[in-house]
Amino acid sequence: MMSSSLSAVSYLGATILFILSLGGLSNPETSRRGNLYGMIGMTIAVLATVFGPRVTMAGLPWIIGAMLVGGSIGLYAARKVQMTQMPELVALMHSLVGLAACLVGYANYIDPIASLNLSSAEKAIHEIEVYVGILIGAVTFSGSLIAFGKLAGKIGGKPLLLPARHWLNLIGLLVVIVFGYQFLHAVTTDAGMTALTVMTIIALLFGIHMVMAIGGADMPVVVSMLNSYSGWAAAATGFMLNNDLLIVTGALVGSSGAILSYIMCRAMNRNFISVIAGGFGSGGGAPARKSGDDAQPAGEVTPISAAETAELLREAKNVIIVPGYGMAVAQAQHAVYEITQVLREKEINVRFGIHPVAGRMPGHMNVLLAEAKVPYDIVMEMDEINEDFPDTDVAIVIGANDIVNPAAQEEPGSPIAGMPVLEVWKAKTSIMMKRSMASGYAGVDNPLFYKENNRMLFGDAKKMLDEVLAVLKE
Ligand code: TAP
Repeated sequence: MMSSSLSAVSYLGATILFILSLGGLSNPETSRRGNLYGMIGMTIAVLATVFGPRVTMAGLPWIIGAMLVGGSIGLYAARKVQMTQMPELVALMHSLVGLAACLVGYANYIDPIASLNLSSAEKAIHEIEVYVGILIGAVTFSGSLIAFGKLAGKIGGKPLLLPARHWLNLIGLLVVIVFGYQFLHAVTTDAGMTALTVMTIIALLFGIHMVMAIGGADMPVVVSMLNSYSGWAAAATGFMLNNDLLIVTGALVGSSGAILSYIMCRAMNRNFISVIAGGFGSGGGAPARKSGDDAQPAGEVTPISAAETAELLREAKNVIIVPGYGMAVAQAQHAVYEITQVLREKEINVRFGIHPVAGRMPGHMNVLLAEAKVPYDIVMEMDEINEDFPDTDVAIVIGANDIVNPAAQEEPGSPIAGMPVLEVWKAKTSIMMKRSMASGYAGVDNPLFYKENNRMLFGDAKKMLDEVLAVLKE
């Protein structure tokens, strides 16, 4: 077993590696290194905890057994998950962090040793840690489960807006405060348990209500917010267990998730508080068609073939590719790369326009393009490239929909009104590659389909791109 000083040094080393990891993950070029730092940091942290001074020999087999079971489930899930299911898996994992915080909180409360030899002030602080830890954990747990359901399509994206929902939230908050007071002043463990249980039920309901009330287009903010919550839940667990590393790591995750939520809100032109209070993504807008629907189009669209697309690309000087969730579904990133290569060999200026919420998780498109070895210097952020569409010959949209929807600018009543979008319709020709007339995740009809300079290339993105590539290579 490790001495306490070696354990402290290991924790310090792990903390530094986690900070370096976050730094690395902020840029695609350094993200692999960032991941590596994170993995080494986590290995050190786990070893230093399991073999640290606070684990007894008798407890070791239990911990190793639990690690084997948990590790095997994690390994199986990670190997089996499709790239398109990643956001759901992340949401599910956030829920586990919340659940862990709740369980540790209850265990800590009923464990007589946890509060042994504490002065009354220390005991009060310990109980506040338990109460707040379970509160954050329960909200994270149920909210993440609902987010999982929404991302997996098991729960509809439409916001559930209960009448007087803000009052319900306020009453819930007051009850939590009142029971918190009772908990701190409870004379018996049973009375404390009752207060804890009532608070947990309210926190679980609050988590469900909060995420249910959020419209499809605002889900990115929720995903990053729950990411942040899971960090604070881990930090709360750290306080309950007196584990410094868990406190620091939780705070790192919590604060970076909060920054990400802020970035997401800015990208969506949303007010953070309003998103959390719910109700966005619920307004009017044109009727939407869901994937797979064979409803008739609401206007004239101009289809285009793969061969004609290849011809337009060949004659272009400037091309911007806008990838979206459909590229991930079709796993078309390698075909995109090959087309990019062929066009660049013909000295055509090809660049990518990446919307901050393209796909289903932050950085989704960057990860796919990096996997396909698309050079980083031609992958531009929305703000860097949006002004260049008027000078672009062909803007080709690969399985994206909401992020290129002009309704965000043209229809004030649309659920996505005000959200910045990639202005592909300003190019000489825009080509939308998708399988049908279906709407995107936000469930909003897209007027781009019907614009005069827009062409629809119907079909699976991978299949269509292979056909375009074959013609380009002829
Ligand atoms: P979406 O608006 O969801 O559009 C994707 C389009 O891809 C669909 O309209 C679909 O049309 C098409 N598609 C699906 N499979 C395809 C295939 N095999 N081949 C070709 N096309 C295919 O995606 P987006 O434009 O990337 O926008 C992202 C949306 O997700 C936003 O509303 C955003 O708020 C939301 N969201 C984002 C995140 C993050 S953090 N990025 C998290 C949660 C939610 P067809 O069915 O007609 O093919």
